[in-house]
Amino acid sequence: MRIVSVTAVAGACALLAACGQGGGSAPTSAEPGAEPAATPAAAAPAPQASPEEVQALLASLPAPYNTADLENGRRKFGMCRSCHTIVEGGANLTGPNLHGVFGRKAGALEGYNYSEVVKNAGFVWDAEHLDKWLAEPRTFLPGTKMSFAGLKNEKDRIDLIAYLKVETGYRP
Ligand code: HEC
Repeated sequence: MRIVSVTAVAGACALLAACGQGGGSAPTSAEPGAEPAATPAAAAPAPQASPEEVQALLASLPAPYNTADLENGRRKFGMCRSCHTIVEGGANLTGPNLHGVFGRKAGALEGYNYSEVVKNAGFVWDAEHLDKWLAEPRTFLPGTKMSFAGLKNEKDRIDLIAYLKVETGYRP
């Protein structure tokens, strides 16, 4: 940015022939480094928790989730992203939108066509159920149409579940 404006001033100098004297009064019309005032609003207006709120929420979770590695959880969610959105009002893809999943009855998101076994699972999603589900979905609920082999590493599951808690609107 600095280089660009120097070039601009040099160009002006060639025309004005009065340069090098009142150096402080360069024209200020062009501001090549200026940022656009605001980025366009995202499709879904999701109010983002501040980093402090995220940390406070993480710390409020029961062990072992309170010491989870959210960055690792975010990376692990990369395995789910092709089938699931997590923002409020996000679309159902191959799998249902997961916003608000904690505290929601399994198979209960309106407008999503679940398999019978998930629809009739009869429990409410919490960390314990999610841990078993994510370890091996097809053993936990045989007949599910979620074709995900499972996340075998326990620590990865802890990190992913904590990430989901802070990103899906969970409140203690
Ligand atoms: C290949 C697509 C696919 C992938 C990958 C996938 N899912 Fe799913 N998921 C589904 C489908 C399909 C269902 C609905 C299952 C059913 O009805 O049997 C589902 C259901 C769920 C549910 C139950 C939601 C409810 O409303 O009851 C949860 C929770 C879930 N998935 C979490 C995850 C997480 C976390 C990951 C990543 C580790 C993941 N899924 C990876 C397709 C996928």
